[in-house]
Amino acid sequence: MENSNSVVMVFLIIFATSSAISFCNGNLDMLCNENERQALLTFKQDLKDPMNQLSNWDESGDCCNWTGIVCNKTTGHVLELHLANNLGGKINPSLLNLTYLNYLDLTMNDFGGIQIPSFIGSLKSLINLDLSNSGFTGIIPHQLGNLCMLKQLDLSDNNYALVSEVLANLSGCTVNSLEILELDRNQLSGQLPDELLGQFRNLVVLSLTSNSISDPIPESLGKLSHLQMFDVFSNRLNGSLPESIGQLAELQIFYISFNLLEGEVSDIHFANITSLEDLYASGNSLTLKTSPAWLPPFQLHSLHLNSWNLGPELPQWIQRQTVLSDLRVSNTSISGRLPTWFKNFSAQLDFLNISCNQLYGEFPVMISLPYSVFDLSSNQFSGSLPPIPSTNVGILDLSNNLFSGSITDFMCYLNGGPNMLRKSDNSSILSLGNNLLSGEIPNCLMNWNNLMVLHLENNNFVGRIPSSMGYLSNLRSLHLRNNNLSGELPSSLQNCKLLLNVDLSANKFGGRLPQWFGASFSNLSVLNLGSNNFHGDIPPELCNLKYLRILVLSHNQLSGEIPRCFGNFTAMAILQNSSDPTSIMISTGDWQFLENALLTSKGRQFEYSTLLKLVVNLDLSDNNLLGKIPEELTRLVRLQSLNLSMNRLIGQIPSKIGDMGLLESLDLSRNQLSGQLPPSIASLSFLSHLNLSYNNLSGRIPTSTQLQSLDGSSFIVNQLCGPPLAQNCSESDRMPPGVEEEEEDREGNLLEQSGFHLSLGLGFAIGFWTVLGSLLFNTPWSIVCHRLLDIAVLKLYSIIVEYF
Ligand SMILES: *[C@@H]1O[C@H](CO)[C@@H](O)[C@H](O)[C@H]1NC(C)=O
Ligand SMILES: *[C@@H]1O[C@H](CO)[C@@H](O)[C@H](O)[C@H]1NC(C)=O
Ligand SMILES: *[C@@H]1O[C@H](CO)[C@@H](O)[C@H](O)[C@H]1NC(C)=O
Ligand SMILES: *[C@@H]1O[C@H](CO)[C@@H](O)[C@H](O)[C@H]1NC(C)=O
Ligand SMILES: *[C@@H]1O[C@H](CO)[C@@H](O)[C@H](O)[C@H]1NC(C)=O
Ligand SMILES: *[C@@H]1O[C@H](CO)[C@@H](O)[C@H](O)[C@H]1NC(C)=O
Ligand SMILES: *[C@@H]1O[C@H](CO)[C@@H](O)[C@H](O)[C@H]1NC(C)=O
Ligand SMILES: *[C@@H]1O[C@H](CO)[C@@H](O)[C@H](O)[C@H]1NC(C)=O
Ligand SMILES: *[C@@H]1O[C@H](CO)[C@@H](O)[C@H](O)[C@H]1NC(C)=O
Ligand SMILES: *[C@@H]1O[C@H](CO)[C@@H](O)[C@H](O)[C@H]1NC(C)=O
Ligand SMILES: *[C@@H]1O[C@H](CO)[C@@H](O)[C@H](O)[C@H]1NC(C)=O
Ligand SMILES: *[C@@H]1O[C@H](CO)[C@@H](O)[C@H](O)[C@H]1NC(C)=O
Repeated sequence: MENSNSVVMVFLIIFATSSAISFCNGNLDMLCNENERQALLTFKQDLKDPMNQLSNWDESGDCCNWTGIVCNKTTGHVLELHLANNLGGKINPSLLNLTYLNYLDLTMNDFGGIQIPSFIGSLKSLINLDLSNSGFTGIIPHQLGNLCMLKQLDLSDNNYALVSEVLANLSGCTVNSLEILELDRNQLSGQLPDELLGQFRNLVVLSLTSNSISDPIPESLGKLSHLQMFDVFSNRLNGSLPESIGQLAELQIFYISFNLLEGEVSDIHFANITSLEDLYASGNSLTLKTSPAWLPPFQLHSLHLNSWNLGPELPQWIQRQTVLSDLRVSNTSISGRLPTWFKNFSAQLDFLNISCNQLYGEFPVMISLPYSVFDLSSNQFSGSLPPIPSTNVGILDLSNNLFSGSITDFMCYLNGGPNMLRKSDNSSILSLGNNLLSGEIPNCLMNWNNLMVLHLENNNFVGRIPSSMGYLSNLRSLHLRNNNLSGELPSSLQNCKLLLNVDLSANKFGGRLPQWFGASFSNLSVLNLGSNNFHGDIPPELCNLKYLRILVLSHNQLSGEIPRCFGNFTAMAILQNSSDPTSIMISTGDWQFLENALLTSKGRQFEYSTLLKLVVNLDLSDNNLLGKIPEELTRLVRLQSLNLSMNRLIGQIPSKIGDMGLLESLDLSRNQLSGQLPPSIASLSFLSHLNLSYNNLSGRIPTSTQLQSLDGSSFIVNQLCGPPLAQNCSESDRMPPGVEEEEEDREGNLLEQSGFHLSLGLGFAIGFWTVLGSLLFNTPWSIVCHRLLDIAVLKLYSIIVEYF
């Protein structure tokens, strides 16, 4: 996260704490003022202190030595009160007797939604007031505007309303003194009032992160001539950027990312911003229009302009930014070859994001700093991958390009000499998916032992998985989908014990399914071995994978029966909580990697990413599986999609199929199933795709809104009758009356069960998402900047989750 704000905070806390320590220690013979001592004891009486942090605030003893108190070592007056953490209760006005109090810090407490007491406005000596994250709501009393000495005010992480009113209530004499104002994450809305803002002439830091402030940034911002940091990250500010910011000669951090700003930004906007170091402005629709020869008056460390319009070329002036280390210009309509200076220039970067542009040419960067992040994905870069200096990359994302040839040099020969085979806490991500890479995966993965994510899908790799894969003991995600890989899976793979998501589908892997899967991959959540040449029985050891939610073994030559223990896949049977390893969000450092999986459901392919953690899917289709469908399978009540089609299954459809109430897609077609449809199938109320065709099923299709709304093709080539088929049923096709009654009972019971409404809700949400997912993800890989879509989905998703 781009958050220099918290750095400032941490610094202030450290500063405050260290000053507290130094004052108190030098104070051995000093007794505090009795009146102030009594005031503190009264103040304590009204507080709730569940962790007994104020235990040394007792009748005896020097209050200057109490937890959280700083006194003036000459006069003994209490100057500072630092009571951060876990207090609650009421704030007693006895504080007013601390007439010299200049620092009041009540952050990280929980005062249970009370208002800030108005008497705080009478603590006239206050210089620093920190009430952030303390559970205050409602109004900011206008009396706070009487704090004529106040320099620093932090009211973040509480809950207030209109930003204009909040500022108005601070506009007494506070307005003249205030240097640092922080109102982050307060649900503030409305516009920043132009006239009012301009009055805060001494502001050095104005931080309004993560609110809902709307309308344009007022012109008067330019009057805040001492401003060093302006932070409105993630609000709803719109309109264009005022030119007056060009006057902010002391501005160092300008943080306007994720707003609705639009229009042009020109040289004038930066005319006199000579001190600017960090320009964070991603996620706006701004267009940079500077003259070609423009030389900015600043030297930046960070430049974030994702989603701006910078094109058609990367701006020339960037090359003169000699201390720039963090450049993010993803999705900025830059095209063509990167200028020749860029390769050399990139050696100074430890973070580069030029993804989602139309750039071409050979590997355009020099990676020289360890643990750096380079995202070149979704461009048209081509040619082979050169050796890189060290494999200690943080993130290297080259996916969705046209890179070709072997990766042996890249993986095995390192410019800077052999990789130090050093274990470190940092883990890295290597994504080469969706390119034209070929040849074998070289057997030198020991160089990359920190890899957390290895994505090589959709290339032309051949040969086996190298045994050195076993060195990747940190690996969480392995995608080799859609290559030409073959052979058995190496037993060294057992060492990758942390794997969460394995996709080896659409290759030519063969042999039996290893028994050790069940024992080694205890966190495994997604396993896709579909479209390979695996044969033999499905080993029952697989059933030990208690976090497995998605299992795809389709299109192989597996034989034998479906193990009865499949009913023991816990994560398919019971709702998992979000802290288990199945939540597919892989984070490394401050960067989170969103997992994805390509799955078939309802006869179509879907790519899931943000929503992956909601998907529960079992696909054994197109094998040689024999015997009956085990009744135990119906324990997997969280399944949304079950596909057993194209096998040699016999017997009846399990009578409790209706227990799998979240099923949206059920495909049992092309087997040798016989007998009547179990009446419980009528209770699958989310079913939108059903295929029972090409079996020996007989009798009447049970009646339900869901079943009769399906297409007749769901049932063809059986001896079934009744709607939606055209064949009418004869008398003999009537269901046995007992069964119908039983069914009614069952439904009655279901409605009474307390869990039913919950699962209905979840089922709706998931159904909704599958539909939306299909809209969003059915676009071909190469033409979308794919991860970006998820942001929109994530937002919508959080709305849904809130709704339920
Ligand atoms: C402050 O408290 C510590 C222990 O809590 C004690 O050792 C020290 O003597 C006290 N100092 C004064 C001035 O009371
Ligand atoms: C402590 O009080 C003395 C006497 O009033 C004053 O000179 C000094 O500046 C004060 N120190 C602090 C840190 O406030
Ligand atoms: C302040 O101190 C005076 C004198 O000890 C006392 O009478 C008064 O009640 C105190 N005020 C508060 C608000 O505690
Ligand atoms: C501003 O102060 C007045 C008077 O104390 C109060 O009625 C009003 O609600 C306050 N506004 C806000 C936004 O706190
Ligand atoms: C900004 O958004 C508000 C609605 O939130 C709209 O009324 C206003 O016209 C917009 N202003 C500009 C300059 O786009
Ligand atoms: C920049 O500063 C110069 C000198 O202080 C001043 O004349 C000029 O108007 C300023 N330009 C802008 C756009 O503020
Ligand atoms: C790319 O930038 C444009 C223009 O700002 C924006 O509308 C679009 O949402 C961005 N695309 C993605 C995938 O974020
Ligand atoms: C690059 O920027 C895009 C947004 O345009 C973002 O989705 C992606 O995660 C970024 N890459 C990295 C490595 O941060
Ligand atoms: C590359 O950069 C280095 C210093 O960063 C400089 O000495 C060298 O001349 C540059 N080379 C080219 C080709 O620009
Ligand atoms: C896959 O590899 C085999 C040899 O192992 C080769 O004959 C075949 O052409 C390859 N197929 C593709 C699509 O590369
Ligand atoms: C499946 O779970 C049941 C209990 O729920 C247990 O008795 C049985 O041994 C398990 N089967 C396997 C193969 O783990
Ligand atoms: C990665 O590890 C190196 C050396 O162990 C350390 O200096 C660096 O700060 C780490 N980076 C992260 C993001 O953890």
